Amino acid sequence: MRQPLVVGNWKMQGSLVSVEALLSDLVSATPAAGVEVAVCPTFIHLGHAFTVCGHSFVALGAQDCSHAKSGAHTGEVSAAMLAEVGCRWVILGHSERRQHQDESDALIAAKLVAAVEAGLRPIVCVGETRQQRDAGTAQAVVSAQLAGALQGQANLGQLVVAYEPVWAIGTGLTATPEQAQQMHAFMRVCLAKITGVDATATRILYGGSVKPDNAANLFVQPDIDGALVGGAALVAADFLAIINAAAA
Ligand code: PGA
Repeated sequence: MRQPLVVGNWKMQGSLVSVEALLSDLVSATPAAGVEVAVCPTFIHLGHAFTVCGHSFVALGAQDCSHAKSGAHTGEVSAAMLAEVGCRWVILGHSERRQHQDESDALIAAKLVAAVEAGLRPIVCVGETRQQRDAGTAQAVVSAQLAGALQGQANLGQLVVAYEPVWAIGTGLTATPEQAQQMHAFMRVCLAKITGVDATATRILYGGSVKPDNAANLFVQPDIDGALVGGAALVAADFLAIINAAAA
């Protein structure tokens, strides 16, 4: 039985004041039990965020980490630094980073090593573009991204994977529950072929325009174990509604 997980990816949004307000609203709520919850503010807001959420039901995550442990890497933040300020999770390989920072599967694999070594739980994102889906290569793309990031890794017991079709992110176009389930089931087959991954136990999140009104239909699918939520995670009531949908 995989425990549902709902993660908010706050992206490059907010200020000290708005982060504190949003987190206070979340931690003062009492959502349905049984769902694991995390939010991922920007690096600069993490320390302050921890003073608000502390050891409440809302855990903290980062949106990225360096592949390196320390050293001459201007602008980078190491996984150990993230753990030190209270992070338990880290998102790796988000499509916005693959697109805009040219992150390769090899770099994501190196970041995964660093994250696991620092004790962070990784959320590795994969997903195809509209053109790739239209060309019929969605499964091939996702399978290559999974293998590229995970093959040869040790200590993947805490691994979480997120399927985020690029065409559904921030567009209001969600994959239908059937499309998402089909890809999640395929991903579980791919995961089973990777040494060191327990495919049955690994949670696979769906991400891409998850909202309170579509969450329940996604979560009833057998291979959808929760969500990685962007826009709707910035509104406490919406994020709480998605958490409650995951508990149902
Ligand atoms: P969205 O973003 O929910 O705003 O589509 C999801 C994500 O990028 O993780």
